[in-house]
Amino acid sequence: MDSLNGKKIVLGVTGGIAAYKAVEIASRLRKAGAEVHVVMTREATEFVTELTFREITGQPVTVDMWAKVTNFNVEHIALANLADIMLIAPATANIIAKTAAGIADDMLTTTVLATKAPLILAPAMNTNMYENPVTQKNIAELKSRGVQIIEPASGHLACGVEGKGRLPDPAEIVRFVMDFAAGEQRLTGKKIIVTAAGTIEPLDPVRFLGNRSTGKMGYAIAAEAAKQGAEVLLVSGPSSLPDPAGVRTIRIQTALEMQAAVQEAYAAADAVIMSAAVADYRPKTVAKEKIKKSDDELVLHLERNPDILYGLGQHKNRQILVGFAAETCNVEEYAKKKLVKKNLDFIVANDVSASDAGFAVDNNRVQIYTRDGGCEKYPLMSKQELAGIILNKIAELMS
Ligand code: C5P
Repeated sequence: MDSLNGKKIVLGVTGGIAAYKAVEIASRLRKAGAEVHVVMTREATEFVTELTFREITGQPVTVDMWAKVTNFNVEHIALANLADIMLIAPATANIIAKTAAGIADDMLTTTVLATKAPLILAPAMNTNMYENPVTQKNIAELKSRGVQIIEPASGHLACGVEGKGRLPDPAEIVRFVMDFAAGEQRLTGKKIIVTAAGTIEPLDPVRFLGNRSTGKMGYAIAAEAAKQGAEVLLVSGPSSLPDPAGVRTIRIQTALEMQAAVQEAYAAADAVIMSAAVADYRPKTVAKEKIKKSDDELVLHLERNPDILYGLGQHKNRQILVGFAAETCNVEEYAKKKLVKKNLDFIVANDVSASDAGFAVDNNRVQIYTRDGGCEKYPLMSKQELAGIILNKIAELMS
């Protein structure tokens, strides 16, 4: 069966020597059942002609923003809206940098900026360009926004050197798109609540108690769940991260506000993933005016915040509940206790005292403890990858 049946794929082709491989990619996508619309940069037309793609795809090919419009009213918006998936292969260092920076100065970059469709990039370039810290920074930035990156292959490059930067075989790229599309549908129709970042608890009009959570893990989960077709509500404490595409994001400040937002959506939810670092305590009173310093010690009285997840566990019917346990010692013991006490389906535990994983970094190293007593230990991986693993487990439990 065609696994891309009826999917509308906008294929961006940029000006690298690997542009010729995009012809086979377009052909394979079409054979897999996709409707393929090619957008080329001006430079790409130096390597392959528009005519080739038009013949292969059976669709008009777009290059010029100002050419006479054939099929679409406002072409860049029309293509951006029409796309179910946008794939750029090969993606040069230039298009990667422009996409990371939000530059829209030709048809392709304008379509990228205007689309809400998931974006997949297949970088292909000279090894030094690929390894240049600025390219790596751009790729990391795109990943953090939920863009899928198909790792380039290593081997003999057209520029004569050996190294990383080759566009993988067209068959592999199309397989990636198919897997992505299959995964994308897995959570269609499911309602998922994700919490992220830390709550902050005000002390007076200018001060608060907070914690080091940045929200990276929760935002990655929310973006991934949306990509897999779920209807996602992200309830986030203060975070500098942008709202993930396709996700309804509510920004709150305190644990009580987070609890209210989560509870309101809970009855209709299929799963709740509590990755937020909720403050366990809040100041008992919030001073109306800024607290003045004096020569004495200052004693703060704190009262307990509700344990949001515990409360959800008490009223659980069909919802899948996932908790996080950020520990600095005895990870296993504490995580297992929380799993039971909070009535969770599984808990993702990590040792936040490690400097390369946990708070405020892009990677995490976790163990997942399940209800049936199982424990899976995972190596250091990106938060995006971990988000995929967590959602796989949820999809399995749902089926
Ligand atoms: O008990 P502990 O705070 O370590 O448990 C962590 C898990 O419980 C996380 O999933 C966190 O989001 C959630 N939690 C909560 N409400 C709190 C504290 C933590 O929902 N007040």
